[in-house]
Amino acid sequence: MRSLEESGLIAAKPFLIEQDYARYSAEQHGLWSELVARRMAQLQQCACREYLEGWEALGLERERLPRLAEVSTRLEARTGWKVQPVSGFMPSRAFFEMLGAKRFPTTTWLRSRESMDYTPEPDILHDALGHLPMFAEQRFADAVAEYGRVCCEIEGEEKLERMGRLYWYTFEFGLIRQDGKVKVYGSGVASSQEECTNVLTGGCEICDFTVEAVLNATVKVDEIHKRLFAITSFAEIMGAVREARELVEAS
Ligand SMILES: [Fe+2]
Repeated sequence: MRSLEESGLIAAKPFLIEQDYARYSAEQHGLWSELVARRMAQLQQCACREYLEGWEALGLERERLPRLAEVSTRLEARTGWKVQPVSGFMPSRAFFEMLGAKRFPTTTWLRSRESMDYTPEPDILHDALGHLPMFAEQRFADAVAEYGRVCCEIEGEEKLERMGRLYWYTFEFGLIRQDGKVKVYGSGVASSQEECTNVLTGGCEICDFTVEAVLNATVKVDEIHKRLFAITSFAEIMGAVREARELVEAS
C-alpha cells in the first residue's frame, strides 16, 4: 500500500478519517432512506443520464447509509477515483491536493431530521448522493482531477477564487442540456430539493456555459441560485478547466 506522502496527500492528511459504520443508528439509516426516496423521486426526472447510471454503477442503496469503502472499490474499478472519508470541511490546498490525487473527500455525518432541507456544511447526503455518482463518468472524473492539479499549481488567493467559480458552476451547481431538456449534474442541485425545484420551475435563469461567463459570475453560498449555466456535453469540461487556467493566469 502506498503511503500518504507517496499519494501526494500531505496537506489533507489531518482531515482523513475512517468511516465508523457501526455508529450509525437505525434512526439515521431510516432518515437516509427518507431523504434518498425524496431526492430520487425528483432526480429520476431531472438528473442527467450519467448521474443516474453512476448511482446504479456505484451500488448506492436507498435503504441504508453507504459503506464508503465498498463504493470506493466500485468507483476505482470504473474511473480510477477513490472515495476518501474526511472529518469535514477542508482548507482549499488540502482539497485540491485530494482532487489531484483522484480521491474524493466525503464526509460521513448525516444531517438531522430538523435540518432535512439544508445544511451549511456538506454531509454524506450532499457528498455521496450529490457528488459520487458523477465520478463514475470518466470525462467528468478526469476533469475534476485536472482541476485539482491545476489549482495546486496556481499561486494567489484572487486567482484561486476565480478558479473556484468554475468549480462552483460546474461540479457543484452544473446543468447540462440533454434530449432538449435541462438536466442536473452538480451536487448542490442534485442533493437539494429546494435548488432542484427552483431550476425545474423556472426560478433560475439558465445561461449557455462559457468559461468567460462563469469566471465573471460571483458566488453567493447562502442564497438560492437565480442564474446557473448549462453545458451541452461532458466532453466540454476538461477544455473548460484548461481554458480557465489560461484566463486566470493571464489576469
Ligand atoms: Fe459539494
